[in-house]
Amino acid sequence: MINKVQLPGTDMTSSVIGFGCASLGSRVSRQQGLSALNLAFDSGVTWYDVAPAYGAGEAEPVIGEFLRGRRDKVLLCSKVGVIPPARNDALKLVYAAARPVLTVASGLRRKFRRISATRNQTLPLTADFISTSIERSLQRLGADYLDVFALHKPSVEDLQRDDVLRALENILTGGKARHISVAGSVEAAHTAVQHGNVYRLFQLADNPTASPLSQLTALAGRPLAFVTHSVLGVDGAMDRLLQSLADRPEDLKKIRDAGYNGNEREAVATLLIDRALASNKDGVVLTSMFSRKHQAHNIARATRPINPDAIRLVDELVKGKVHIESVV
Ligand SMILES: NC(=O)c1ccc[n+]([C@@H]2O[C@H](COP(=O)([O-])OP(=O)(O)OC[C@H]3O[C@@H](n4cnc5c(N)ncnc54)[C@H](OP(=O)(O)O)[C@@H]3O)[C@@H](O)[C@H]2O)c1
Repeated sequence: MINKVQLPGTDMTSSVIGFGCASLGSRVSRQQGLSALNLAFDSGVTWYDVAPAYGAGEAEPVIGEFLRGRRDKVLLCSKVGVIPPARNDALKLVYAAARPVLTVASGLRRKFRRISATRNQTLPLTADFISTSIERSLQRLGADYLDVFALHKPSVEDLQRDDVLRALENILTGGKARHISVAGSVEAAHTAVQHGNVYRLFQLADNPTASPLSQLTALAGRPLAFVTHSVLGVDGAMDRLLQSLADRPEDLKKIRDAGYNGNEREAVATLLIDRALASNKDGVVLTSMFSRKHQAHNIARATRPINPDAIRLVDELVKGKVHIESVV
Protein backbone atom coordinates (compact mmCIF):
# COMPACT_ATOMS: atom_id res chain seq x y z
CA MET A 1 0.00 0.00 0.00
CA ILE A 2 1.23 3.50 -0.85
CA ASN A 3 1.92 5.60 2.23
CA LYS A 4 -0.62 8.30 2.93
CA VAL A 5 -0.34 11.72 4.50
CA GLN A 6 -2.77 14.08 6.18
CA LEU A 7 -1.86 17.40 4.58
CA PRO A 8 -1.19 20.04 7.27
CA GLY A 9 -3.66 22.93 7.38
CA THR A 10 -6.17 21.10 5.17
CA ASP A 11 -8.82 18.41 5.46
CA MET A 12 -7.15 16.29 2.77
CA THR A 13 -5.44 12.92 3.04
CA SER A 14 -3.37 11.98 0.00
CA SER A 15 -1.00 9.34 -1.27
CA VAL A 16 2.55 10.61 -0.64
CA ILE A 17 3.26 10.44 -4.34
CA GLY A 18 1.23 12.34 -6.92
CA PHE A 19 0.92 12.00 -10.69
CA GLY A 20 2.25 15.06 -12.55
CA CYS A 21 0.49 15.42 -15.90
CA ALA A 22 2.51 18.14 -17.69
CA SER A 23 3.28 15.78 -20.62
CA LEU A 24 -0.21 14.34 -21.00
CA GLY A 25 -1.48 14.95 -24.55
CA SER A 26 1.84 16.27 -25.85
CA ARG A 27 4.82 13.89 -25.32
CA VAL A 28 2.38 11.24 -24.07
CA SER A 29 -0.60 10.21 -26.21
CA ARG A 30 -4.15 10.18 -24.86
CA GLN A 31 -4.24 6.37 -24.94
CA GLN A 32 -0.86 5.88 -23.22
CA GLY A 33 -1.83 8.56 -20.72
CA LEU A 34 -5.17 6.98 -19.85
CA SER A 35 -3.67 3.56 -19.29
CA ALA A 36 -0.92 5.02 -17.04
CA LEU A 37 -3.48 7.04 -15.07
CA ASN A 38 -5.77 4.01 -14.64
CA LEU A 39 -2.86 1.89 -13.46
CA ALA A 40 -1.74 4.56 -10.97
CA PHE A 41 -5.28 4.86 -9.60
CA ASP A 42 -5.52 1.08 -9.17
CA SER A 43 -2.18 1.18 -7.32
CA GLY A 44 -3.42 3.78 -4.83
CA VAL A 45 -2.18 7.11 -6.26
CA THR A 46 -4.80 9.67 -5.25
CA TRP A 47 -3.21 13.04 -6.22
CA TYR A 48 -3.38 14.27 -9.85
CA ASP A 49 -1.74 17.52 -10.91
CA VAL A 50 -2.74 19.29 -14.11
CA ALA A 51 -2.99 22.80 -15.59
CA PRO A 52 -4.69 24.42 -18.58
CA ALA A 53 -1.33 24.68 -20.36
CA TYR A 54 -0.27 21.06 -19.80
CA GLY A 55 -0.01 18.79 -22.82
CA ALA A 56 -0.32 21.90 -25.01
CA GLY A 57 -3.88 22.25 -23.70
CA GLU A 58 -4.80 18.56 -24.11
CA ALA A 59 -4.14 17.32 -20.54
CA GLU A 60 -7.31 18.57 -18.81
CA PRO A 61 -9.75 16.87 -21.24
CA VAL A 62 -7.85 13.57 -20.89
CA ILE A 63 -7.92 13.85 -17.09
CA GLY A 64 -11.66 14.49 -17.48
CA GLU A 65 -12.03 11.10 -19.21
CA PHE A 66 -9.94 9.41 -16.52
CA LEU A 67 -12.08 10.99 -13.76
CA ARG A 68 -15.42 9.63 -14.95
CA GLY A 69 -17.01 7.66 -12.13
CA ARG A 70 -14.17 8.33 -9.67
CA ARG A 71 -14.12 12.10 -9.09
CA ASP A 72 -14.71 11.75 -5.35
CA LYS A 73 -11.94 9.16 -4.99
CA VAL A 74 -9.08 11.42 -6.09
CA LEU A 75 -7.59 14.80 -5.22
CA LEU A 76 -7.38 17.09 -8.21
CA CYS A 77 -5.24 20.20 -8.62
CA SER A 78 -5.45 22.54 -11.60
CA LYS A 79 -4.12 26.05 -12.06
CA VAL A 80 -4.51 29.52 -13.51
CA GLY A 81 -1.91 31.83 -14.99
CA VAL A 82 -0.27 30.01 -17.88
CA ILE A 83 -2.13 29.43 -21.13
CA PRO A 84 -1.27 26.97 -23.90
CA PRO A 85 -0.82 27.77 -27.55
CA ALA A 86 -4.09 27.93 -29.51
CA ARG A 87 -5.21 24.32 -30.02
CA ASN A 88 -4.91 23.48 -33.65
CA ASP A 89 -4.70 20.40 -35.81
CA ALA A 90 -1.21 21.23 -37.11
CA LEU A 91 0.25 21.27 -33.57
CA LYS A 92 -1.45 17.96 -32.73
CA LEU A 93 0.11 16.41 -35.84
CA VAL A 94 3.56 17.69 -34.82
CA TYR A 95 3.22 16.06 -31.38
CA ALA A 96 1.90 12.80 -32.83
CA ALA A 97 4.82 12.63 -35.29
CA ALA A 98 7.46 13.51 -32.67
CA ARG A 99 6.22 11.15 -29.90
CA PRO A 100 8.22 8.02 -30.78
CA VAL A 101 11.47 10.04 -30.86
CA LEU A 102 10.71 12.06 -27.71
CA THR A 103 10.10 8.86 -25.77
CA VAL A 104 13.67 7.68 -26.23
CA ALA A 105 15.76 10.84 -26.73
CA SER A 106 15.97 13.05 -23.67
CA GLY A 107 18.19 15.61 -25.49
CA LEU A 108 15.56 16.14 -28.15
CA ARG A 109 12.87 16.21 -25.50
CA ARG A 110 14.72 19.03 -23.78
CA LYS A 111 14.79 21.07 -26.99
CA PHE A 112 11.15 20.26 -27.76
CA ARG A 113 10.16 21.23 -24.24
CA ARG A 114 11.91 24.59 -24.65
CA ILE A 115 10.06 25.25 -27.90
CA SER A 116 6.72 24.29 -26.37
CA ALA A 117 7.52 26.28 -23.21
CA THR A 118 7.96 29.38 -25.35
CA ARG A 119 4.56 28.74 -26.90
CA ASN A 120 2.91 28.76 -23.47
CA GLN A 121 2.20 32.22 -22.14
CA THR A 122 2.23 33.40 -18.53
CA LEU A 123 -0.44 36.07 -18.15
CA PRO A 124 -0.97 38.67 -15.41
CA LEU A 125 -3.74 37.68 -13.00
CA THR A 126 -7.03 39.57 -12.94
CA ALA A 127 -10.28 38.70 -11.16
CA ASP A 128 -11.94 38.05 -14.51
CA PHE A 129 -9.11 35.82 -15.78
CA ILE A 130 -9.18 33.79 -12.54
CA SER A 131 -12.94 33.16 -12.59
CA THR A 132 -13.08 32.43 -16.33
CA SER A 133 -10.06 30.13 -16.15
CA ILE A 134 -11.45 27.91 -13.37
CA GLU A 135 -14.85 27.67 -15.10
CA ARG A 136 -13.15 26.49 -18.30
CA SER A 137 -10.91 24.05 -16.43
CA LEU A 138 -13.97 22.55 -14.71
CA GLN A 139 -15.73 22.19 -18.08
CA ARG A 140 -12.72 20.47 -19.64
CA LEU A 141 -12.34 18.22 -16.60
CA GLY A 142 -16.08 17.46 -16.44
CA ALA A 143 -15.89 18.28 -12.71
CA ASP A 144 -17.92 20.48 -10.33
CA TYR A 145 -14.97 21.46 -8.16
CA LEU A 146 -11.21 21.28 -7.75
CA ASP A 147 -9.61 20.12 -4.52
CA VAL A 148 -6.81 22.59 -5.12
CA PHE A 149 -6.76 25.64 -7.38
CA ALA A 150 -3.22 26.96 -7.83
CA LEU A 151 -1.85 30.25 -9.09
CA HIS A 152 0.61 29.06 -11.75
CA LYS A 153 3.92 30.98 -11.67
CA PRO A 154 2.32 34.14 -10.24
CA SER A 155 4.28 37.36 -9.89
CA VAL A 156 5.00 38.47 -6.34
CA GLU A 157 2.88 41.58 -7.00
CA ASP A 158 -0.15 39.70 -8.39
CA LEU A 159 -0.54 37.27 -5.53
CA GLN A 160 -0.93 40.03 -2.94
CA ARG A 161 -3.35 42.26 -4.89
CA ASP A 162 -6.74 42.78 -3.22
CA ASP A 163 -8.75 42.00 -6.37
CA VAL A 164 -6.87 38.69 -6.78
CA LEU A 165 -7.40 37.76 -3.11
CA ARG A 166 -11.13 38.62 -3.38
CA ALA A 167 -11.49 36.52 -6.56
CA LEU A 168 -9.88 33.57 -4.77
CA GLU A 169 -12.17 33.97 -1.73
CA ASN A 170 -15.16 33.95 -4.10
CA ILE A 171 -13.96 30.69 -5.62
CA LEU A 172 -13.78 29.11 -2.18
CA THR A 173 -17.17 30.43 -1.03
CA GLY A 174 -18.74 29.46 -4.37
CA GLY A 175 -17.52 25.87 -3.88
CA LYS A 176 -15.48 25.82 -7.11
CA ALA A 177 -12.33 24.84 -5.19
CA ARG A 178 -11.65 23.54 -1.69
CA HIS A 179 -8.18 25.04 -1.25
CA ILE A 180 -5.94 27.66 -2.88
CA SER A 181 -2.28 27.08 -3.69
CA VAL A 182 0.71 28.93 -5.08
CA ALA A 183 2.64 26.91 -7.68
CA GLY A 184 5.73 28.92 -8.43
CA SER A 185 8.98 30.21 -7.01
CA VAL A 186 10.22 30.13 -3.42
CA GLU A 187 10.14 33.94 -3.52
CA ALA A 188 6.44 33.88 -4.44
CA ALA A 189 5.77 31.39 -1.63
CA HIS A 190 7.58 33.66 0.86
CA THR A 191 5.33 36.56 -0.11
CA ALA A 192 2.15 34.47 -0.18
CA VAL A 193 2.52 33.04 3.33
CA GLN A 194 2.57 36.60 4.63
CA HIS A 195 -0.62 37.59 2.84
CA GLY A 196 -3.50 36.08 4.69
CA ASN A 197 -4.83 32.63 5.17
CA VAL A 198 -6.13 32.03 1.68
CA TYR A 199 -2.95 30.29 0.48
CA ARG A 200 -2.78 26.87 2.16
CA LEU A 201 -0.61 24.78 -0.16
CA PHE A 202 2.66 25.54 -1.92
CA GLN A 203 3.91 23.75 -5.02
CA LEU A 204 7.66 24.14 -5.35
CA ALA A 205 10.55 22.60 -7.24
CA ASP A 206 12.38 20.03 -5.13
CA ASN A 207 15.91 21.28 -4.60
CA PRO A 208 18.61 19.15 -2.98
CA THR A 209 20.73 22.21 -2.18
CA ALA A 210 18.07 24.15 -0.27
CA SER A 211 15.24 23.23 2.08
CA PRO A 212 12.78 26.11 2.19
CA LEU A 213 9.79 24.11 3.49
CA SER A 214 10.44 24.41 7.22
CA GLN A 215 11.46 28.08 6.84
CA LEU A 216 8.17 28.83 5.08
CA THR A 217 6.14 27.09 7.79
CA ALA A 218 8.01 29.03 10.48
CA LEU A 219 7.43 32.30 8.60
CA ALA A 220 3.71 31.56 8.24
CA GLY A 221 3.26 30.58 11.90
CA ARG A 222 0.55 28.09 10.81
CA PRO A 223 0.55 24.62 9.24
CA LEU A 224 1.23 24.60 5.48
CA ALA A 225 1.09 21.76 2.98
CA PHE A 226 3.76 21.29 0.31
CA VAL A 227 3.71 19.63 -3.07
CA THR A 228 7.17 19.22 -4.60
CA HIS A 229 8.16 18.47 -8.19
CA SER A 230 11.13 18.31 -10.59
CA VAL A 231 12.79 15.59 -8.53
CA LEU A 232 14.41 14.08 -11.63
CA GLY A 233 13.59 16.62 -14.35
CA VAL A 234 15.16 16.50 -17.80
CA ASP A 235 17.77 19.13 -16.88
CA GLY A 236 17.56 18.58 -13.15
CA ALA A 237 19.32 16.85 -10.31
CA MET A 238 19.49 13.41 -11.89
CA ASP A 239 21.46 14.40 -14.99
CA ARG A 240 23.82 16.61 -13.01
CA LEU A 241 24.46 14.02 -10.34
CA LEU A 242 25.11 11.39 -13.03
CA GLN A 243 27.58 13.74 -14.74
CA SER A 244 29.47 14.30 -11.49
CA LEU A 245 29.65 10.53 -10.82
CA ALA A 246 31.57 10.01 -14.05
CA ASP A 247 34.58 11.75 -12.43
CA ARG A 248 34.01 10.44 -8.90
CA PRO A 249 33.73 6.64 -8.66
CA GLU A 250 34.02 6.95 -4.87
CA ASP A 251 30.63 8.70 -4.86
CA LEU A 252 29.04 5.82 -6.75
CA LYS A 253 30.44 3.49 -4.09
CA LYS A 254 28.72 5.56 -1.37
CA ILE A 255 25.44 5.23 -3.27
CA ARG A 256 25.89 1.46 -3.61
CA ASP A 257 26.90 1.13 0.05
CA ALA A 258 23.67 2.89 1.01
CA GLY A 259 21.76 0.09 -0.72
CA TYR A 260 20.93 1.74 -4.05
CA ASN A 261 21.36 -0.88 -6.75
CA GLY A 262 20.64 -1.32 -10.44
CA ASN A 263 22.41 0.63 -13.16
CA GLU A 264 23.73 4.13 -12.31
CA ARG A 265 20.63 5.89 -13.62
CA GLU A 266 18.27 3.64 -11.63
CA ALA A 267 20.35 3.97 -8.46
CA VAL A 268 20.48 7.77 -8.68
CA ALA A 269 16.76 8.06 -9.54
CA THR A 270 15.87 5.90 -6.54
CA LEU A 271 18.11 7.91 -4.22
CA LEU A 272 16.62 11.22 -5.42
CA ILE A 273 13.05 9.96 -5.04
CA ASP A 274 13.82 8.74 -1.51
CA ARG A 275 15.40 12.13 -0.73
CA ALA A 276 12.35 13.98 -2.07
CA LEU A 277 9.93 11.80 -0.07
CA ALA A 278 12.01 12.27 3.10
CA SER A 279 12.41 16.03 2.70
CA ASN A 280 8.65 16.56 2.16
CA LYS A 281 7.47 13.86 4.53
CA ASP A 282 4.19 15.61 5.39
CA GLY A 283 3.37 16.48 1.79
CA VAL A 284 3.06 15.13 -1.74
CA VAL A 285 5.92 14.50 -4.18
CA LEU A 286 4.87 14.79 -7.83
CA THR A 287 6.47 12.65 -10.47
CA SER A 288 5.79 12.13 -14.13
CA MET A 289 5.28 8.35 -14.42
CA PHE A 290 3.77 7.53 -17.77
CA SER A 291 6.22 4.70 -18.40
CA ARG A 292 5.11 1.50 -16.63
CA LYS A 293 8.62 0.87 -15.38
CA HIS A 294 8.98 4.35 -13.84
CA GLN A 295 5.53 4.15 -12.32
CA ALA A 296 6.10 0.76 -10.69
CA HIS A 297 9.44 1.98 -9.39
CA ASN A 298 8.19 5.30 -7.96
CA ILE A 299 5.16 3.70 -6.37
CA ALA A 300 7.36 1.01 -4.80
CA ARG A 301 9.48 3.74 -3.13
CA ALA A 302 6.30 5.40 -1.85
CA THR A 303 5.27 2.21 -0.08
CA ARG A 304 8.49 1.99 1.97
CA PRO A 305 9.26 3.76 5.25
CA ILE A 306 10.83 7.21 4.83
CA ASN A 307 14.65 7.07 4.58
CA PRO A 308 16.08 10.23 6.23
CA ASP A 309 19.62 9.04 5.35
CA ALA A 310 18.84 9.81 1.70
CA ILE A 311 18.80 13.54 2.57
CA ARG A 312 22.20 13.34 4.21
CA LEU A 313 23.71 11.29 1.40
CA VAL A 314 22.51 13.59 -1.42
CA ASP A 315 23.64 16.58 0.61
CA GLU A 316 27.10 15.06 0.90
CA LEU A 317 27.22 14.20 -2.80
CA VAL A 318 26.21 17.62 -4.06
CA LYS A 319 27.92 19.84 -1.49
CA GLY A 320 30.65 21.89 -3.11
CA LYS A 321 30.71 19.63 -6.17
CA VAL A 322 27.73 20.27 -8.39
CA HIS A 323 25.29 23.10 -8.47
CA ILE A 324 21.91 21.46 -8.81
CA GLU A 325 19.14 23.53 -10.21
CA SER A 326 15.74 22.04 -10.96
CA VAL A 327 14.02 23.19 -14.10
CA VAL A 328 10.46 24.46 -13.69
N1 LIG B 1 4.22 24.24 -10.74
C1 LIG B 1 5.10 24.20 -11.70
O1 LIG B 1 5.52 25.25 -12.21
C2 LIG B 1 5.61 22.87 -12.15
C3 LIG B 1 6.80 22.81 -12.85
C4 LIG B 1 7.27 21.56 -13.24
C5 LIG B 1 6.51 20.44 -12.95
N2 LIG B 1 5.34 20.52 -12.28
C6 LIG B 1 4.51 19.33 -11.99
O2 LIG B 1 5.37 18.27 -11.60
C7 LIG B 1 5.15 17.14 -12.50
C8 LIG B 1 6.40 16.34 -12.64
O3 LIG B 1 7.29 17.09 -13.46
P1 LIG B 1 8.81 16.97 -13.27
O4 LIG B 1 9.49 17.99 -14.09
O5 LIG B 1 9.02 16.94 -11.78
O6 LIG B 1 9.11 15.57 -13.93
P2 LIG B 1 9.81 14.33 -13.24
O7 LIG B 1 8.86 13.64 -12.36
O8 LIG B 1 11.12 14.76 -12.70
O9 LIG B 1 10.01 13.39 -14.54
C9 LIG B 1 10.92 13.74 -15.53
C10 LIG B 1 11.21 12.54 -16.38
O10 LIG B 1 11.70 11.48 -15.55
C11 LIG B 1 11.06 10.26 -15.91
N3 LIG B 1 10.98 9.41 -14.70
C12 LIG B 1 9.99 9.31 -13.79
N4 LIG B 1 10.31 8.39 -12.85
C13 LIG B 1 11.53 7.90 -13.17
C14 LIG B 1 12.38 6.93 -12.58
N5 LIG B 1 12.08 6.27 -11.47
N6 LIG B 1 13.58 6.69 -13.21
C15 LIG B 1 13.95 7.34 -14.32
N7 LIG B 1 13.17 8.27 -14.91
C16 LIG B 1 11.97 8.55 -14.35
C17 LIG B 1 9.71 10.64 -16.47
O11 LIG B 1 9.31 9.68 -17.46
P3 LIG B 1 7.81 9.17 -17.76
O12 LIG B 1 6.82 10.23 -17.45
O13 LIG B 1 7.86 8.83 -19.22
O14 LIG B 1 7.61 7.91 -16.96
C18 LIG B 1 9.99 11.99 -17.10
O15 LIG B 1 10.38 11.81 -18.45
C19 LIG B 1 4.66 17.79 -13.79
O16 LIG B 1 4.03 16.85 -14.61
C20 LIG B 1 3.76 18.84 -13.23
O17 LIG B 1 2.55 18.25 -12.83
C21 LIG B 1 4.90 21.72 -11.86
